[in-house]
Amino acid sequence: MTYMIWKDQYSVENALIDKQHQTLFELVNEVAEKVKAKNMIEIKDVIKRLAAYTVTHFRDEEALLKKAGYANLEDHQMIHAELLRKVQDLQQKLAMNQAVSLVSVIRFLSDWLKDHILKDDMAYKASIKKLG
Ligand SMILES: [Fe+2]
Repeated sequence: MTYMIWKDQYSVENALIDKQHQTLFELVNEVAEKVKAKNMIEIKDVIKRLAAYTVTHFRDEEALLKKAGYANLEDHQMIHAELLRKVQDLQQKLAMNQAVSLVSVIRFLSDWLKDHILKDDMAYKASIKKLG
């Protein structure tokens, strides 16, 4: 079962960012699959890849916002830093074999991603339109 399904409402109408957001959706779906299979080694591996890809994505998104002269770039960068810290904390907890509720991990990651796109990223949609 696919856990996170991409819908038009998630689109910021920029091909690169939408593609990267879709990749993040796929990675969260992969986490959900590995949780279902109860495969801890693979769960850790996917979350590690998710954390690494988040770094790449935030860097690219921030570069685009800078290019667009987005007024709230600094706030957005702070939100990104906090989101990244949360996913890195999770990665570290798993790496140290700390007890983590896996059901809450999936819920956390899907909320983490959806809420950020729908609230914070939608706020810059109009500003990046001129970049095409
Ligand atoms: Fe963002």
